Amino acid sequence: MKITVIGTGYVGLVSGACLADVGNDVLCFDTDEGKVQGLRNGHIHIFEPGLKEIVERNIQAGRLSFTTDAKEATEFGLLQFIAVGTPPGEDGSADLQYVLAAARAIGQHMTDYRVVVDKSTVPVGTGDKVTAAIAQELARRDAKIDFAVVSNPEFLKEGAAVEDFMRPDRVVVGTDDDHAITIMRELYAPFQRNRDRFVLMDRRSAELTKYAANAMLATRISFINELANLAERLGADIESIRKGIGSDPRIGYDFLYAGCGYGGSCFPKDVQALLKTARDDAGMDLHVLAAVEQANHHQKRVLPAKIRARFGEQLAGRKFALWGLAFKSNTDDMREAPSLAMVEALVGAGAQVVAYDPAAMETAQRAIGVKPGLTYADNAMAALPGADALVIVTEWKEFRSPDFDAIAAALKAPVIFDGRNLYDPALLRGRGFEYHAIGR
Ligand code: UDX
Repeated sequence: MKITVIGTGYVGLVSGACLADVGNDVLCFDTDEGKVQGLRNGHIHIFEPGLKEIVERNIQAGRLSFTTDAKEATEFGLLQFIAVGTPPGEDGSADLQYVLAAARAIGQHMTDYRVVVDKSTVPVGTGDKVTAAIAQELARRDAKIDFAVVSNPEFLKEGAAVEDFMRPDRVVVGTDDDHAITIMRELYAPFQRNRDRFVLMDRRSAELTKYAANAMLATRISFINELANLAERLGADIESIRKGIGSDPRIGYDFLYAGCGYGGSCFPKDVQALLKTARDDAGMDLHVLAAVEQANHHQKRVLPAKIRARFGEQLAGRKFALWGLAFKSNTDDMREAPSLAMVEALVGAGAQVVAYDPAAMETAQRAIGVKPGLTYADNAMAALPGADALVIVTEWKEFRSPDFDAIAAALKAPVIFDGRNLYDPALLRGRGFEYHAIGR
């Protein structure tokens, strides 16, 4: 099949490359000339395991190419995927200007039937706006051409995006257009594996499904974080509780790890957008979700509060080694990362911070900028010498089994604040560490 993907950001590039990998011809469009030029040469601007290989392989096979020409892009694909950004506006709602610009461009240039597939995370009702924008452009040039607008949200996790696309739990497709349904089924047939994962529904339900999924997952995290804070005060261990409740298949073990709060490009943004949609478009407050957001805001401050409780409100003259900057492991993404609140709290109280992250050093420097008191180390151990404590905020694999004797020797005193519950508290205390974790 011939497919155009509009937007070569995270979702667009992963989708385009994976669709090409199963044999489709894919043309990726972006307005950013520099980015497109880079991509043509196989330069990937995103840190994502496996993505570089799959992009290079498909460029070489001639199935994946890039353009900045909107006319060429519209003419190319029977399927037109919209995968542009929907950054949060000042009021928390998703900004649709790039989605609607893409829709208008399709309306301006299309000469034949097109299936317009919305992959960006967009508020309920956006499919109607995309339809109207295309129709308006067609009317402007007096063209009568049939098209369908389909909602097909993505559920990719950063760090596992290629795998998630290639082996999806489900493929949600929202449309009532029979021709489009046939095309979408054929498109996703190679990804169905051992059973049919195609979940067909109306467009609005598909749009809301994406928000519902992220809201539900964010709720689990805020819930377990709140229980962790309680467990700690009551002298219980949240990891034991996770195992105890996770054994019930209705609950499950996954995505139930207490920590220093959720971050990333999706949960914070989507939770806010859904709260706003409910308020503005449906006239109702989502009480549970509002609490989820508030609890997460609080959770990012739990570990800094423990540090202040230990060393005092004023941290001038103190030095902390910070392991982890990215919002989670296997990504260089810093958006809404708990590390940001941590750096702010420590440096704000006068402390020095020496940070290390296996992947996010550059993005961190861009996100935080120059901050007096904050420096970066070349590796994990180099962050430690002379620090009053080691603070961990990202669950990178390489932090899981470090040389504890070397850590103890490098620190001023063997003190660890662990926002990801990486270690066995009994083991660490046995090795002479003062170990502060979350909920245990
Ligand atoms: C998420 C959804 O998982 C994905 O389906 C959706 O398409 C986009 O948003 P992502 O933002 O990449 O993906 O990260 P995810 O792995 O879901 O983690 C989100 C945040 O929750 C991270 O900050 C992570 O550290 C935190 N988290 C996750 C926990 O604190 N505890 C957990 O048990 C799981």
